[in-house]
Amino acid sequence: MCGIVGAVAKRNIVPVLVNGLLRLEYRGYDSAGLVVVHEGKLERVRSAGRVAELGQKSANTSGEVGIAHTRWATHGKPSERNAHPHMSRELIAVVHNGIIENYEELKAELSAQGYEFTSDTDTEVIAHLIHSHYAQGSLLVATQMALTQLVGAYAIGVIAADNPHLMVAARKGSPLLLGVGEGEHFVGSDMSALLQVTRNVVYLEEGDVVEIKADSFRIFDMAGVRVQRQMHVSELDNDSVELGKYQHYMQKEIHEQPQALANTLESVCNSQSLVPGIFGAEANDIFPHVDNILILACGTSNHAGQVARYWLEEVAGIPCNVEIASEYRYRTSVPNPKTLVVTISQSGETADTLAALNHAKATGHSYTLAICNVPESAIIRQSKLRLLTRAGPEIGVASTKAFTTQLAGLFLLTLVMAKVRGRLDETREQQFLHELRHLPTAMQKVLELEPQIAEIAAHFADKHHALFLGRGMHYPIAAEGALKLKEISYIHAEAYPAGELKHGPLALVDKDMPVVSVAPNDALLEKLKSNLQEVRARGGELFVFADADTHIHSSAGIHILQMPEHAGFLSPILHTAPLQLLAYYVALQKGTDVDKPRNLAKSVTVE
Ligand code: AGP
Repeated sequence: MCGIVGAVAKRNIVPVLVNGLLRLEYRGYDSAGLVVVHEGKLERVRSAGRVAELGQKSANTSGEVGIAHTRWATHGKPSERNAHPHMSRELIAVVHNGIIENYEELKAELSAQGYEFTSDTDTEVIAHLIHSHYAQGSLLVATQMALTQLVGAYAIGVIAADNPHLMVAARKGSPLLLGVGEGEHFVGSDMSALLQVTRNVVYLEEGDVVEIKADSFRIFDMAGVRVQRQMHVSELDNDSVELGKYQHYMQKEIHEQPQALANTLESVCNSQSLVPGIFGAEANDIFPHVDNILILACGTSNHAGQVARYWLEEVAGIPCNVEIASEYRYRTSVPNPKTLVVTISQSGETADTLAALNHAKATGHSYTLAICNVPESAIIRQSKLRLLTRAGPEIGVASTKAFTTQLAGLFLLTLVMAKVRGRLDETREQQFLHELRHLPTAMQKVLELEPQIAEIAAHFADKHHALFLGRGMHYPIAAEGALKLKEISYIHAEAYPAGELKHGPLALVDKDMPVVSVAPNDALLEKLKSNLQEVRARGGELFVFADADTHIHSSAGIHILQMPEHAGFLSPILHTAPLQLLAYYVALQKGTDVDKPRNLAKSVTVE
């Protein structure tokens, strides 16, 4: 949601803070700020704009300890006064990612003690609380005392004006990493912020508080007991978070899909058979007991789940439900201990999905599987089984390679379930493995459609609405295409199963309503063709992504883009890429901020 960076060193750390924020800007970009200790005073710079502006404003600032923040507004509108860091009486400064649920109560208590509030944020209470305890102890103790009073989620960084070589940081419910350098230490919301200075990282655990100096650090758990946490060496390389030859991260990430798919499928494609163990050692015991699947996810990840439902029911013959994570926990459902609860999340920290997972566990579900792109994320750690998608860091707010790798992971789940249930014979297993091995190459060929897609994007630039059609397992792909278009071009787009058109939405179709259709060569093709005629007869302009062997041809008002090959069950994965490219090129036409669309942020850690 928001991004945090902090540093303690024996050099000026302002460039580290600004570079770190630039890396974290995808997490929120409403406003930004930093604070350092300089000559015994807190020197704070904030900007209601982007991090680049903060960089300019802080060009003459320096200090050896500092914290910085890029914000996605929750409490209080995006403005300089609400930008972090927040301070208490020029002594304590805090940056915070998360939400303090009892802030109003705390604010009333602190106001009664004479503390003045200068922002509309929930974070400011943390600064005042720490200040209120600081006279009685060290910055570490004051922070620990303040944390006991907070209800909600937080990752925080804290510094004090009278302590120029010390930072305290803590996390509960929001991610925070400790970067270990040589004679200097850092914190960051994720690894991308730290790569500029170190690869050595400690993943702080729930409730950890860490006292950080340039030469040392001490970690304390939730109970205040000093603990040792393992240090990891990050495998992430700087190139994976650089734009390289691309204009936007979204374009880069669309083009990384062949490699991302190859990486996700690597272990399976190198072996001769599929085994439950790819989801964790316990899968061997759990999978035979599973009699249905419940998928919980949000947004794009939910669309992946919707495709998987078709696969799981048809190939593995196992009943499957897919629910929007934010809805699931608020309805009364009937738990079944034989359900495998699958959460899907790129970030692994989406609050709605995490809450849904915990709700499922609380109602008696013990078989949990996470399909996630971030190792050590909350969703991974809180699930019994896991499959890591290996898409690499996804920085564009619009999810692309995370989605197609989630689909690849879900197809593996389908095959393993089918095998466990005796529905996958050796020949079919080998055939599917062969198709999976070919998937990255097939995706590469699809991406070669880019110039044609860039051309048709011009037809959308002056439109206000668009319809997306698909049938069967391609209906969720149409929904994903519509989500991409609205998210980054701000064109209102909705998806329908094509057969549903005549039951209402057809009333919307006229020459100003472009209709995009996914048309694989499957059992529903003939029916889809009739639905497309219904659109054309009402003057609607059609843009059809058709398989090579569908024999649909371009004609007046019908633009056909031929997909290179037909991929059977894997077709939804391949049909996704052209829709991503379409949204991307329409957004370019409209001149929107592709990687940082308005009002959004990459990982949504609030409900
Ligand atoms: C997709 O383009 C979105 N930015 C959004 O729908 C996203 O997929 C959703 O917020 C879920 O995120 P997650 O996969 O990190 O849980």
